[in-house]
Amino acid sequence: MYSEKVMDHFQNPRNMGEMENASGIGTAGNAKCGDIMRIYLDIDHSGRIREAKFKTFGCGAAVAASSMATELLKGKTVQEALEVTNKAVMEALDGLPPVKVHCSLLAEEAIHAALWDYGERNGIVIRGLEKPLKDMP
Ligand code: FES
Repeated sequence: MYSEKVMDHFQNPRNMGEMENASGIGTAGNAKCGDIMRIYLDIDHSGRIREAKFKTFGCGAAVAASSMATELLKGKTVQEALEVTNKAVMEALDGLPPVKVHCSLLAEEAIHAALWDYGERNGIVIRGLEKPLKDMP
């Protein structure tokens, strides 16, 4: 049912944990399953993501999606980070079962919320980024 990559990122999650002095923090939740994902970004002065971390209270697929998402974010500019969509995360994981697609969507929403937070803190507009609907405190 799950690809080897999903199992690997679920069992050995990369970049798990909180980040002190993050440049941007975003949280997304899914009302139906009750799962919550938080993404922390460390962004340098040129707008490039140095480090990304996550904390996820959720299912295995959500943990794997957060782990892969943080890996994909590292080294990207804040503009390029918009390319880390739920589709990109799913592709990098070699797919997710249809009932688990929303878990990768949570990653995209948390990324957008973290980028929005960074933009607001620094007065930076990221082209194509819309204010997240579901950011949670
Ligand atoms: Fe809700 Fe996976 S079941 S995030």
